[in-house]
Amino acid sequence: MPTITVDGRRLEVPEGSTLLQALDELGLLMNGVDVPHYCWHPKLSVDGSCRLCQVEIEGVPKLQIACDTPVADGMVVHTTSERVQRAREGVMELLLVNHPLDCPICDQAGECKLQDYAVDYGLDHARTREPRRPGRKRVELGPTIVFDEERCILCRRCVRFCREVPETGELVVENRGDRSRITTFPGTPLDNPYSMNVADVCPVGALTTRDFRFKVRVWDLDEVPGLCTGCSKGCNVHVGVARGAVQRYTPRRNDQVNETWICDEGRLSYREIGAPDRITRPAVRDAEGRMQPVSIARAIERAAERIRAAVLREGPAVVAALASPHATNEDLTELRRLLDGIGTATSGAAVVEGEPDGLLLQAERAGNARGARDLGFGDPGLVFEKIRGGGVRVLLVMGRDLLAEPFLGGTDPLASLDAVILLDTHRSALEQVADVVIPGRMLAEKGGSMTNHAGLVQRVPAALEPAFDAHAEGAVLARLRAALELVLPARSEGAA
Ligand code: SF4
Ligand code: SF4
Ligand code: FES
Repeated sequence: MPTITVDGRRLEVPEGSTLLQALDELGLLMNGVDVPHYCWHPKLSVDGSCRLCQVEIEGVPKLQIACDTPVADGMVVHTTSERVQRAREGVMELLLVNHPLDCPICDQAGECKLQDYAVDYGLDHARTREPRRPGRKRVELGPTIVFDEERCILCRRCVRFCREVPETGELVVENRGDRSRITTFPGTPLDNPYSMNVADVCPVGALTTRDFRFKVRVWDLDEVPGLCTGCSKGCNVHVGVARGAVQRYTPRRNDQVNETWICDEGRLSYREIGAPDRITRPAVRDAEGRMQPVSIARAIERAAERIRAAVLREGPAVVAALASPHATNEDLTELRRLLDGIGTATSGAAVVEGEPDGLLLQAERAGNARGARDLGFGDPGLVFEKIRGGGVRVLLVMGRDLLAEPFLGGTDPLASLDAVILLDTHRSALEQVADVVIPGRMLAEKGGSMTNHAGLVQRVPAALEPAFDAHAEGAVLARLRAALELVLPARSEGAA
């Protein structure tokens, strides 16, 4: 590996990389070695257009752009010299000739690279007298993205993203020189399953998502590491929380999983957390067949009564469980312990499938399908067969995926059971046949680990507390096990 010296620090860097790439791979870029940059992005091709990343290299007369300069053994680089500082100031002055400095009314304020670098390298006054070049405002480039041309600094990251990642190429630069502007091909709106990533790659407030723009100021957000659970990819996200609710998901870089991208569907899946159809109260069915709200303790007690009665009457094999592939490994471990304690092996997990897109989106539309399988909750076919054949009297159900067509296709086969004990987050037809309903928590509300399609176990903390009486499924199942007074089998203890 070549050795280079950057600001007096000797570094071994990957052969064939550029200076910025090498610093990024070492985790030093903007984290010990500050080389400001706009057009360079770690996951896109090099553009070399903004000139902000200029550095001084000993033995080379002119400043060089770090994003397009290959490393060479023995290279000595200075990123903080006076010449470099002046070059950055010059670039910033040129960019600010046309860019309005109206950060207080810009939605990007607080997470804008132009704002940051204007503070670090900008002049405190403008030397130009000419009016700024006018730009189009609030241009809808497609169903998800709004463009503010005045704020665009023509770094072309958005254009390269569309060409290189979803390979849809809707965005182009039209015209030349100071008439250059970002637009879409005529009749080709920006509309692809990854379109909202352009708002993340845009270093300024030129591209914003219709979903988040002007919803909340970013300094009011708590950003907590999270995972998207929309499919088994397990994309890493920042969960943006403000006013007691999740306001957005944005991609969190993980080169092993999602690089720096997430799909639009996954990005918008945060809405499920605050959806109006959340189950908000534990309930049990009364003697007249109506669901009555009860305390969590009473709901668990009723579930225990139903399981105990069935086991005493017909043995443990009449108790079955359908695990949720959206639940965490911790929840599923508790379910496994409970079933082991009861002495039944009838269990599985219904995993809804769709078309994978060859980029991130996986066929399995559940965040922990692999984790469920690893914990022994595989094909649910035998459970359904046993239900239809009358061999199940009490069914413990986590989630509602079993209602989908390839599985039960409805609640009819459940109507004749003694009891359906439902632990779920959102309302569904299952409530009509349930004897006990217990509200569960979404991943952002409880934290925990999930295993992605490739077997990578990822753990995240809770991002917020639900505003209603919901409980992590694992905690409910542990209480149910205690209510049944089950002694843990040694095997399950070890598995924990
Ligand atoms: S819209 Fe944003 S990402 Fe696209 S060229 Fe302009 S500044 Fe760059
Ligand atoms: S690819 Fe899957 S895990 Fe990633 S953001 Fe989309 S739905 Fe979520
Ligand atoms: S980041 Fe190097 S020229 Fe833009």
